[in-house]
Formats: sequence, structure tokens, C-alpha cells
Amino acid sequence: MKKTVLNIHTGFQIGKVDERIFGGFLEHLGRAVYEGVYDPKSINADEDGFRKDVMSTLKRLNMTVMRYPGGNFASGYHWLDGVGPKDKRPVVRDLAWQTLEPNQFGTDEFIKLCKKMEWSPMLTVNLGTGSPEEAGNWLEYCNLPAGTRYADMRAANGNKEPYNVKLWCLGNEMDGLWQLGHLPARDYVIKAQQAAKIMKDVDSTIELIVCGSCGISMPTYMEWDREVLEYIWEFADYISLHRYVGNYNNDTSDFLAVTNSIDKQIEEMDSGCRFVQAKKRSKKRVYLCFDEWNVWYKNHESNGKGQFAPHLLEEIYNLEDALVVAGFLNSFIRHSDMLKIANLAQIVNVIAPVITKGDDLLIQSIFYPFEMVSKRRKGVSLQLHIEGPFYESPSYGSVNYIDASAILGDGKLHIFAVNRGITEKAEVLINPADIDILSLEGAEIITGNDTKAANSFEKPDVIVSREFKEVKVSDGKAICQLPPLSFVAMTFKAG
Ligand code: AHR
Repeated sequence: MKKTVLNIHTGFQIGKVDERIFGGFLEHLGRAVYEGVYDPKSINADEDGFRKDVMSTLKRLNMTVMRYPGGNFASGYHWLDGVGPKDKRPVVRDLAWQTLEPNQFGTDEFIKLCKKMEWSPMLTVNLGTGSPEEAGNWLEYCNLPAGTRYADMRAANGNKEPYNVKLWCLGNEMDGLWQLGHLPARDYVIKAQQAAKIMKDVDSTIELIVCGSCGISMPTYMEWDREVLEYIWEFADYISLHRYVGNYNNDTSDFLAVTNSIDKQIEEMDSGCRFVQAKKRSKKRVYLCFDEWNVWYKNHESNGKGQFAPHLLEEIYNLEDALVVAGFLNSFIRHSDMLKIANLAQIVNVIAPVITKGDDLLIQSIFYPFEMVSKRRKGVSLQLHIEGPFYESPSYGSVNYIDASAILGDGKLHIFAVNRGITEKAEVLINPADIDILSLEGAEIITGNDTKAANSFEKPDVIVSREFKEVKVSDGKAICQLPPLSFVAMTFKAG
């Protein structure tokens, strides 16, 4: 059996884990909003038309920030269409996904949902077909006390108190040719700067996320980011990263090694920020916001063919996908010093941990790693020194069989470990140098023999998290045996 040692010293701290890395993303896309979170005709609808089954299931993920209304949709969205009496709201064409948008769910409904779910809203302004002024007006609608036009409009729509939306994205994937109103960097950043100036004049307490390169394979990767940051540095609080990964070559070992390249993407983007910071001799840091991430490669049905709520991007997730999602989370924790916000894309029906069919609901495999880590998220990320066997992956280079991260918080040590081995068990020794592991508080695992095994409405419990008992604590250390193709989250009392 392969043996790995996770060496830990509590003095080697990477940074406090920002709870906003456990965010989500809700876009007007396919059945994410209609038939997803909002479905007044469902027997599961509450008094506001929100799906109680979807809400109670998502509650388990304890998501912190929720990005809305897109995505690509945001670049053609006019927020005024989605407020006011519902029978007066227009049906419009959404060109991003070739869908009919009835505007029955808009800003006020989203904020109400956020309140019910205890999410902090994060709004993306339209810098495609929209104007900087329109962005400023939306911010006034959301954040200013009544007394001026758009704040009064909110009050007249039944919401006297401001919404106090802190996080605002300056457009979405504006480097992509597929984006409505795409602009090259020099033009995007002029528009973004104009919007940022207006927005910070309306409410100086907000935080702004500028569009970074939307993919590592974009021809302008990093050059876009440099140009954008150099121009808009004073207004930028965060820069966005996006990443969707897939097992394109049907090679599980290679796919599980993709974590290497997620680490690399985060570090490269941080280097870009540090480069511009150094060039400007600035004391300020611009941090990273990974506002779209997931596995997504099987379902590319993206043309809504002029329908309301069509079935788009309804990806089915299997065991290997769940292990890769765990790898994303490990990577985020390992970069707690630079990564402050992340949003799983998305939350329901569209590339999502949860799907609905009529009034039924199914939890997909990727739900579980998110739940397992999210409930153990409070604390400081620790630098692990991993001693153990590794393999060469064709696409991502050399990787340890065990991919891991650790969080220390309030007398507890949380360890997260993926066994990338396909057939072999792995022994893992958790070896703290300066504290003792005292006892196991609880541990969970997801695993299986078949990399492609997935939950379905007929068999919903194929890939679920279960209690993990194979952990022994002795002499201040812990030792466990991880089955092949597994992800384990463990919590120890330590001191
Ligand atoms: O999440 C689906 C889509 O992926 C988003 O709308 C877009 O930003 C990205 O390309």
C-alpha cells in the first residue's frame, strides 16, 4: 500500500480562510431560475414562489455569497425590466442563450431569496449592451436610502430599506468574442473605469471585481489582466478568474491531476496582480475572485431556441467529477492568502449540484465534497508538507497520489484529502510537529469503484457522503487508510 505523510506545523499559516470562497452563482440560464429556485406552480413553492425543496437542500451547502444575474446573460440584461409589478414586466429575448426571459424574477426577488438563504448578494452589471450610467442607477436602486429616483423606485416596489449589496462585478467575460458587447482590453477597461467611478461615487463602500481573463487558453491570457489592472488599479478590489474542467481524454488519472493547473492559474493571476502593484509602487493589493468554477464538459446544449426555461447545460456529475470538485476546494484553501471569493457555477439545474424534475429533486455527486468542506471552513489554512508517492500526468505534470489541504480553527484541525489512486488504497499519516491530535470528532468520505457512477432520480444514493470510521488516533498523530478514488474530510480535536 502506498504511504503518505502530511507534515504539519501550526506556525506555517497561509492565511485565514475567507468564508466567501464558499459562494455560488445563479444565472438566468436554462432552468436555473425558472423551475430551479423559482417555480410558483410547484407543490414545493413557498408564499413567494421559491422552491422550498431546493432551498432546504442548498442550505446544507451553507453558501456565503451568491453571484447574479449572470454570466453571459448579464451582458444583455437591463435591470429595469425585472422590477416593478410583475404583470407590467416585459418578456424579452435573451440573446446569450437564445431564450425568452419573462422577467418574473428580478432584483427584488433575488434579494428576498438571498435573505431567506442568508446569502450575501453579488451583482454583475451589464457592461456589454449596458452603460456605466445604467450600472450606477442599479446601485442607487439597491443601496441608497429613499429620496432619489431609483431608491424611491425600490421603496415604491415595497422595499423601503436599502439592500446594501457590497460586491459588484464590472461585467462578465468581456475578453470573450461570444460575449454580447465584447470589447478588447483597452476599450473594456475604459468602460469599466467609467462605471467604477460612477458606482463608487454613488456608494463608496462597495467592492468591485474587474473582469480578468476568462480562461487560461484565451490568446490574451495575462496580457489582458495586465492591461486592465494597470488602467483601473485604483478602483479594483478583486480580479475575476473562471475555470471549467473536464475529462476530455477519458483518462481519470490525468483528470484528477488537473488540480495542479488550478494551483498554477491562481498563482499566475496573483503574480499578475503583484506585477502591476510593484510597477505602480502601490501599497494596495488586488485579490482574486474565482467567480466561476466547476467541472463542465459533457453537456453543451446552449441554444434555448426561443423557449422559456429550456433544458440547457444540464450536466450529470459522477464520482470522478466530485473528486475534482474536492481538488478545486483544496486548491482554494491552499491559496487563502490571495483568493478571497469563489463561486461554484452554478447552483441548480445548470451545471449544478442539485437538479429538479417536475416537483422532484436530485442531489448530484458534486454536492457532497462542497458540503463536507463548507461545514469545516472556519479557521486558518496551514501549509502542508506532503511526503509520498507521486505520478506523472500527461497534461499536468507530476502530482502526489494524495491531494490535501488543512484548516486549523478553534481547537480543531480539519484535514481534506483526495486519493487519486485508481485501484490502490493509500495510507495517510497526519503528523503535526507542534500540537497533538487528541481525538477524532468526525469524518466523512465519498468513494466508489466506478469513476463514472452517478446519482439518478431512480437511484439517488449511488454517490453520497458517508461516515468514515477508518481513522486511528494515537501518540498525537492520526492514521487512516483511504480507499482508491476517494475524498475524505476529517475533523480532529487538537492542542
Ligand atoms: O456558467 C455558464 C457560463 O459560462 C456563464 O454564463 C459564462 O460566464 C461562462 O462562459
